[in-house]
Amino acid sequence: MSLSKKSRLDRFISQWYFTKNPSQPLNKKAVRLLVAQKRILVDGQPADSFSQPIDYFTRIELDGELLQGNQRLYLMLHKPVGVVTAVVDEQHQTVIDLIDHPDKDQLHYAGRLDLNTSGLLLLTNDGHWSKGLTDPDKKVAKCYEVTLEKPVDERYQQAFKQGIYFSYEGITTRPAELEIIDPYHTRLWLTEGRYHQVKRMFGYFRNAVVGLHRSQIGELTLDPALKPGQWRPLSLEELNLLNNRSF
Ligand code: URA
Repeated sequence: MSLSKKSRLDRFISQWYFTKNPSQPLNKKAVRLLVAQKRILVDGQPADSFSQPIDYFTRIELDGELLQGNQRLYLMLHKPVGVVTAVVDEQHQTVIDLIDHPDKDQLHYAGRLDLNTSGLLLLTNDGHWSKGLTDPDKKVAKCYEVTLEKPVDERYQQAFKQGIYFSYEGITTRPAELEIIDPYHTRLWLTEGRYHQVKRMFGYFRNAVVGLHRSQIGELTLDPALKPGQWRPLSLEELNLLNNRSF
């Protein structure tokens, strides 16, 4: 079954059986009987109904044989500068190229970073999860450490709180919090991810971003033990931090 597909238990069983025994397909009645006899386990429990909805991550067993057991993957990567946030690219190394995992081909990223931005990037094979994280209505805040060419002052804080008008899209950015660490170093919290958003917000003041690093998404911070280019799976605690906040 493919990653994005949703199906029903009886269809899945029939298809699975057919690929094993093309000359002897199971009829509907036989599939329903397997369910009634409690020979099919769905996520470890006897199936409730032959029409039970299932997806790529539903664990399905028949008479103790595992028919489908795909794992959800949730990874944190310290994206280095110079690596493109894409699945394939002809010119640059991609974030997927950095992942050494047998199921890396299933991965996509949740919230891209520009080529010259470093920091926390989340990768997953769970489309529902990544959609929730990047949905602006969920208001998951992302923290960016921003180094500027020219000094900043309180005017930036006021303007970012009110929102900056992006004429190309015809939108005003959502209220954003700016912490001034020193005149050239700031910390910016955004709850949306518009194209080149940080650079364009500072661009309003004709101030160039010379360094950009994402350090946090929601309550999750980039593991300081990860060097640029390194990754690791999220722990259960880290997943809960994100899930409690965003869903
Ligand atoms: N804003 C930007 O301008 N670049 C990024 O990579 C992320 C946010």
